[in-house]
Amino acid sequence: MSYPFQITSLEQYHKDYKKSVDDPEAFWSGVAENFQWKKKWDKVLEWNFKEPKVEWFRGGKMNITENCIDRHLSTMGDKPAIIWEPNNPEERTRVVTYNRLHKRVCQFAQVLKNNGVKKGDRVCIYMGMVPELAYAVLGCARIGAIHSVIFGGFSAQSIADRLDDAQAEYIITCDGAYRGSKDIPLKSVIDDALIGNKTVKRVIVYTRTRTPVSMLKGRDVWWEDEMEHAESQIEKEGVVSFPAEEMDAEDPLFILYTSGSTGKPKGVVHSCAGYMVWTTYSFVNVFQYNPGDIHFCTADIGWITGHSYIVYGPLSTGATSLMFEGIPTWPDAGRFWEIVDKHKVNILYTAPTAIRSLMGFGLEPLKGKDLSSLKILGTVGEPINEEAWHWYDENIGKKKCPVVDTWWQTETGGALISNLAGVTPSKPSWATLPLPGIQPVLVDENGKEASPNPAEVGALITAGNLCIKAPWPGILRTTWGDHERCRLNYFTAYENLYFTGDGALKDEQGNYRITGRVDDVLNVSGHRLGTAEVENAINMHAGVVESAVVGYPHDIKGQGIYAYVIFNSKHVDDELAKKDILQTVTRIIGAIARPDKIQFVSGLPKTRSGKIMRRILRKIAEGETENLGDISTLLDPGVVEEIKNGKL
Ligand code: WT7
Repeated sequence: MSYPFQITSLEQYHKDYKKSVDDPEAFWSGVAENFQWKKKWDKVLEWNFKEPKVEWFRGGKMNITENCIDRHLSTMGDKPAIIWEPNNPEERTRVVTYNRLHKRVCQFAQVLKNNGVKKGDRVCIYMGMVPELAYAVLGCARIGAIHSVIFGGFSAQSIADRLDDAQAEYIITCDGAYRGSKDIPLKSVIDDALIGNKTVKRVIVYTRTRTPVSMLKGRDVWWEDEMEHAESQIEKEGVVSFPAEEMDAEDPLFILYTSGSTGKPKGVVHSCAGYMVWTTYSFVNVFQYNPGDIHFCTADIGWITGHSYIVYGPLSTGATSLMFEGIPTWPDAGRFWEIVDKHKVNILYTAPTAIRSLMGFGLEPLKGKDLSSLKILGTVGEPINEEAWHWYDENIGKKKCPVVDTWWQTETGGALISNLAGVTPSKPSWATLPLPGIQPVLVDENGKEASPNPAEVGALITAGNLCIKAPWPGILRTTWGDHERCRLNYFTAYENLYFTGDGALKDEQGNYRITGRVDDVLNVSGHRLGTAEVENAINMHAGVVESAVVGYPHDIKGQGIYAYVIFNSKHVDDELAKKDILQTVTRIIGAIARPDKIQFVSGLPKTRSGKIMRRILRKIAEGETENLGDISTLLDPGVVEEIKNGKL
């Protein structure tokens, strides 16, 4: 069986692609027909990239949870929606059917209502990877509250900043979370984040680890008590239900904070209908999902990948989504393969950094694991090097599974450039062709469409900055509370284009290869961090005078963080000073932002106008010492020599 909008041949891909570009309104209304609407739209698309303004399916009324849950109940109520694999393999797996998911989401929607949450309110979710996290997300969507999920690795300070930016009044968290051998005290981090906070009225705490927590009277309540009470309120003759709020197509569905080139992460806002259509359309086509397939996306729901391809895309398709609480290397490096074998996983979607790290353990962890259920493999988050691509293809896919390299961003809602598994050709380390509706263009520094430059990168290959010419349903609508910031960030670098921040190559067949960020954004193990953000955190340390952060190639993480730091002269022990800096960064952002290398310097290469020449620092961090380019414009060219000599 194929889905109504599923592309099943290369010819159809070309046909659909052409139609989507020639007549986007007809194309996308045809796709949108396959969803459940409370009221159909009046206008398919209205847009300009000047303001920017993007409206898809204007006038349409719907609720994404009816599409993700209710519409499947009559035919698939007893089918698993979520299969949950615990951190500890000894613990019991949980299978959540669509019926059960419906019940729990309705119950939780009532819990939110009982606690005063209304449509449009912001609810911050800081939980581990438990099914209740999906209930929380969907419960918010059911009543029209805007969720803002924060990854469990972020610090109290990061949470406080996000709570403040979103003016969130509600928090849903866990006592703790299990990750590998660790037990992370989430509630206690929330308590720290709430010191001095004036807006948060209620914290709902789900019990996972039963680590001791302080529950503040009048503010903190237990998930379990609330759920029990809600059930007694809305249960009628054994059936629990809660009406789905009627949402406007363009109402915000969620905020997700992500790093940019400035110091402060921005709240990317996605809409209800467009995001639903895009995640479902891309899920079905990229992964060629077939009814009954078990889809295992290894991301955390704290990132966009988890939002789109664990929760919304698969559930709206009526798929079975496998959710894993733990990490790939615990109790040993065979954990992913054990899960694939145990649950007969058909689609595995993970990050290049995970593949590279597992490669390092050799083939031993694969012994005795039956991977024959696998049909499709996917990667996301960063460019995949050919070695990792082939290892994945040969040892995991046994050369029988198409590998999809999916390029996208928090801002794009779902995959934009990717091969469609088994339908369009793959090319190792190339994301390949754009999905229907996506019109990429490579531009040079001046915004002119780039042309092939044989001298630089080989015959008939074009290099440039990757932009998109027209909106697709899943494009971000704004950045929370600051539309101007959205405009400046994405729509002003090049006129009338959405700028991705990535550089790319294009071959003669129109395939794209993403080469990495061209702005001051780092991609560390698939986690996105701004250099300015990390610098700000380092500079918070009392002994730091100034710092400059750049990325450098790292075998496993893809990029590592290299920090050049000017420290006040009083410190005696370099190692201790480094540890203090790491501790500071952990406090301000979280452990994911800790620099891999810290080099103490007496000065930084600056132009006469005081701008740090990162290009030089980047080259040195990459191990390049000769071709540093023109350094004659530096205020003090002498520091370059010192920095080169002190390289770590
Ligand atoms: C950045 C977006 C998309 C979900 C995970 C990351 C890089 C992403 C690929 C890929 C090369 C990729 C880009 C992009 N990226 N996928 N398949 N090949 N690079 O989302 O945190 O918003 O980061 O990740 O540089 O701009 P994100």
